[in-house]
Amino acid sequence: MNHERLSHLLRCPACGSEMRYRPKVYSYCCTGPVLHTYRVKDEIADMIQGEEEERQRKVDRAFGRRAGRSYEKNVTAAGAFDRFMGQVMWGTNKFIPLMFELLDSVASDCEPGYFLDIPVGTGVFTAGEYSLQPNLEFIAADYNRRMLEAALEKVRAEDFGNVMLVRTDARSLPFSDASFTGVLSMNGFGSLPEPERCLEELVRVLKPNGKFAGSMYVKGERLTTDLLLGRVGAWLGWFSGPFYTEEQFLGMLDGRGIKKVVTRKINSIMFFSGRKCAGEVPATPDTDEHTLVKA
Ligand SMILES: C[S@@+](CC[C@H](N)C(=O)[O-])C[C@H]1O[C@@H](n2cnc3c(N)ncnc32)[C@H](O)[C@@H]1O
Repeated sequence: MNHERLSHLLRCPACGSEMRYRPKVYSYCCTGPVLHTYRVKDEIADMIQGEEEERQRKVDRAFGRRAGRSYEKNVTAAGAFDRFMGQVMWGTNKFIPLMFELLDSVASDCEPGYFLDIPVGTGVFTAGEYSLQPNLEFIAADYNRRMLEAALEKVRAEDFGNVMLVRTDARSLPFSDASFTGVLSMNGFGSLPEPERCLEELVRVLKPNGKFAGSMYVKGERLTTDLLLGRVGAWLGWFSGPFYTEEQFLGMLDGRGIKKVVTRKINSIMFFSGRKCAGEVPATPDTDEHTLVKA
């Protein structure tokens, strides 16, 4: 995959018009009446322009500080201290192996085409899977530049030919409607400001019958987690809120046409996977689809 090919998926975040890649200036330029340009810096297509508001700035600062090894050590519970912190925060570390398996279980059930991994973070859970999915071309996207640079190191080290890195805001994605056969949002909804708006966008860019999956924190399952995450995590900027219960989030998926949803919950971490319905979204939610099975 290259910038030319990526440009076919892109639309200008500022005016919605089509985009072209201009190799001489390492930039994507829109084709609208007013020219908007987006630079490619170190192979990362930077689709963000303008000032970020306070809520996003806080999250961005928090992940900018943690990007790289320390983030990866924490989330994979690599050291004894990280395992201890995982136990305190979540009451278990058992969900971590499932995070490594999630992309494989979703991607192998997807039609060939483009697949969006957002927010990819440093790619710690997903980058190793990219080269194992030859039928898919991955767009790995995140807001934070330092997190993306850590992902880029992995992409370069493995020389993946089927991955492009994009810096973007999940609240206004620079992709045309129905571009992707699969979308993965792993550990995103707790950190993304305005999660409902992000969900709208993720569903918009998914093709009908496309697969939508991910993992997220759900509130109301464990008091210690709710307190630590809602107070300390939010104060540090690692989590943003609003947070949802399992039922609320499943209702949000259903209302946006994500059906046949299956879930698996380990304490406050919920894995989910479903498909975008092909026609109009039915007015009545079919809640009986929400059975507990393998993520
Ligand atoms: C908890 S990390 C999850 C990353 C990765 N999926 C993982 O499991 O390691 C949350 C990520 O959300 C990103 N993020 C925060 N706000 C965002 C936004 N508005 N759009 C896209 N990504 C955002 C952060 O930069 C961070 O990398």
